[in-house]
Amino acid sequence: MMASCTLFPSILAFLLCSSAVVVVESGIGVNWGTLSVHRLSPETVVNLLKGNKISKVKLFDADPHSLKALMGSGIEVMVGITNDMLAALSSSSAASDLWVSQNVSRYMVKGGVNIKYVAVGNEPFLTSYSGQYQSYVLPAMMNLQQSLAKANLAGMVKLVVPCNADAYESSLPSQGAFRPELTQIMTQLVTLLNSNGSPFIVNIYPFLSLYGSSDFPQDYAFFEGTTHSVMDGPNVYSNAFDGNFDTLVAALGKLGFGQMPIVIGEVGWPTDGALSANLSAAKAFNQGLVNHVLSNKGTPLRPGVPPMDVYLFSLFDEGAKSVLPGNFERHWGIFSFDGQAKYSLNLGNGLLKNAKDVQYLPSRWCVANPSRDLSGVTDHFKIACSYADCTTLNYGGSCNGIGAKGNISYAFNSYYQVRKQNPQSCEFDGLGMVTFLDPSVGDCRFLVGVADGSTNSPGFSLGSRKTVSALVILWGVYIFLM
Ligand SMILES: *[C@@H]1O[C@H](CO)[C@@H](O)[C@H](O)[C@H]1NC(C)=O
Ligand SMILES: *[C@@H]1O[C@H](CO)[C@@H](O)[C@H](O)[C@H]1NC(C)=O
Ligand SMILES: *[C@@H]1O[C@H](CO)[C@@H](O)[C@H](O)[C@H]1NC(C)=O
Repeated sequence: MMASCTLFPSILAFLLCSSAVVVVESGIGVNWGTLSVHRLSPETVVNLLKGNKISKVKLFDADPHSLKALMGSGIEVMVGITNDMLAALSSSSAASDLWVSQNVSRYMVKGGVNIKYVAVGNEPFLTSYSGQYQSYVLPAMMNLQQSLAKANLAGMVKLVVPCNADAYESSLPSQGAFRPELTQIMTQLVTLLNSNGSPFIVNIYPFLSLYGSSDFPQDYAFFEGTTHSVMDGPNVYSNAFDGNFDTLVAALGKLGFGQMPIVIGEVGWPTDGALSANLSAAKAFNQGLVNHVLSNKGTPLRPGVPPMDVYLFSLFDEGAKSVLPGNFERHWGIFSFDGQAKYSLNLGNGLLKNAKDVQYLPSRWCVANPSRDLSGVTDHFKIACSYADCTTLNYGGSCNGIGAKGNISYAFNSYYQVRKQNPQSCEFDGLGMVTFLDPSVGDCRFLVGVADGSTNSPGFSLGSRKTVSALVILWGVYIFLM
């Protein structure tokens, strides 16, 4: 494979070899999720992307508001199909035709949306789903492929399937293989992807490896070198990302597709909600990753061939996500919910720039009334935090340690802002009061909501996009326990 390429000198070799693994500069894109309680308007978001020259975006569904805002932007878009739609799309070509016409064709017009990929499901083979979506993926792809062909879009829009890195495993990258129970379906999947010229999409999370195992060497999660390199024959791995990536390369090789282009569908580092989730770690990881990818160094099994594209997870913090994986789950954004860069990060076009013209609610907060006895407040606290995000209050969070009264004020305020500062939402049976003095303490920020986007009303189903199983978290550990 790669080795035979290096035997040819000259430009001819470049042409021959580049047709095997397409060598183009990797693009850095972002995941734009919308499970947020404070949303910027889609137009503000698209302007933020443009202002930062982010030219690729991955969506988790086909939200018409997001897609409308992306019209005419030229931004390359991956549209998503949620797992719960796979059954219907696998069993009915009419449903598939309708999905394509409503969510793709309609936007593929002059001045429309540059839809390049459709993601069929999101991590449908995740171990914790126990195979519940598995049998729908390929039939849904077959139907959708036909629907795209009928709409004359098959040449422009490619079907892909973002997979979690728990689809493969190994103690050493070169020994990588798909999970035995997935061998057959993965063989069919990559054969289909290959025949359509589509890449393999994988989500890689060194953070989860570190979070999930106290034995995981901290410096191996980052890109600055490590005292715990993994030796794999002649190859030396100094970071978990490369080790994981090459495990996939080896797994694809075992199926006869060692040259298949790979796109990283999700990768990132959260900034809150766990000890190792903080601003400096997130900055170090994401900047290290971007520099590594843009250096075109590649990995030991794919020297000089970095991932085709990399979509950072995530564009924003999303306060309505399930916290089943951990409190960090709501804090993956490179921007906070209101479009402010959380730390300086250079995606290759200069440092991140904040969103412009964000409309905030008035500068006021809801806090616990200091003159009241708060002994009966527990239920209010619980209810407030079930609607609003209070994850930063927990151990490892930026607001952990602000005291019992601080906790209550934080919860009251979070709820008040989610309810768009509706006066009744600060009552709490007389225990709450509105203040015009910012109650933020140190790194613990008491937020003020935004006014220009839609807000999920409380009661909106806060479904989890994915559930990260313990097995996923353990992946990185395999690389070490040798
Ligand atoms: C188009 O996508 C949206 C958002 O993902 C979804 O709600 C809708 O059902 C889809 N349309 C069809 C016809 O399936
Ligand atoms: C931030 O996370 C890193 C990486 O896990 C850790 O080494 C560091 O101690 C954390 N910093 C703070 C201030 O907690
Ligand atoms: C504040 O709330 C958090 C999360 O519920 C809890 O872990 C912590 O112990 C509370 N602090 C005090 C002083 O009650």
